[in-house]
Amino acid sequence: MEDLGSVWPPEPIRTERLLLREPVARDRAAFVELHASPEVNLYLGGPRPRDELEREMPEVPARWPGSLVVDRDGEMIGHVLLRRATGHRRPAAAGKLDLGYLFLPRAWGHGYAAEACSAALGRLAAVLPGEPVVLTTQTANAPSMRLAAKLGFTEVERFEAWDAEQWLGMRPPPVPSG
Ligand SMILES: CC(C)(COP(=O)(O)OP(=O)(O)OC[C@H]1O[C@@H](n2cnc3c(N)ncnc32)[C@H](O)[C@@H]1OP(=O)(O)O)[C@@H](O)C(=O)NCCC(=O)NCCS
Repeated sequence: MEDLGSVWPPEPIRTERLLLREPVARDRAAFVELHASPEVNLYLGGPRPRDELEREMPEVPARWPGSLVVDRDGEMIGHVLLRRATGHRRPAAAGKLDLGYLFLPRAWGHGYAAEACSAALGRLAAVLPGEPVVLTTQTANAPSMRLAAKLGFTEVERFEAWDAEQWLGMRPPPVPSG
């Protein structure tokens, strides 16, 4: 199992409409917005108090390998995360790379999340070919369920956690031909 930090390239990823890059200090307000938003956190355990976020958010938030700010015309609109799920509660997902995505509500409904996540998964496939990726989302989170399907995740199992039904999906490596 390779550590993402040893292979994840720091170069930004460009898509047709977006730039995926490392977080920088000027993203801090958007990170606060993201985690304080009741809409964004509806299926993620609820928003965090804004004053707490203002106090505790590092000067440069979320700076670690696999953490990508989604930038549209110089402004952060979302966050795509790829993390090693070392402590995942489901054995099928433990130790695998886990995809997460959070976008500001004003950026929903434009296909930006799909564009950003597929670019991140494409970059991952280039640096770690064949690496499976898992994704957990509440089944009630319809936009997230649609996005997971669009990205090629298929159901591994459903389970109860955090007082809700959860969906564990996996994007398996392509089946070798021949
Ligand atoms: C989950 C989330 C990222 C999905 O965002 P989204 O904008 O709906 O997702 P997509 O990028 O796939 O966009 C799809 C929508 O854009 C529309 N769209 C408009 N223009 C488009 C274009 N050029 N290309 C593609 N889709 C386009 C699609 O029709 C679709 O709308 P629909 O859902 O009404 O059918 C967003 O709801 C979110 O941030 N939620 C809060 C965080 C969260 O719950 N995360 C999940 C846990 S990890």
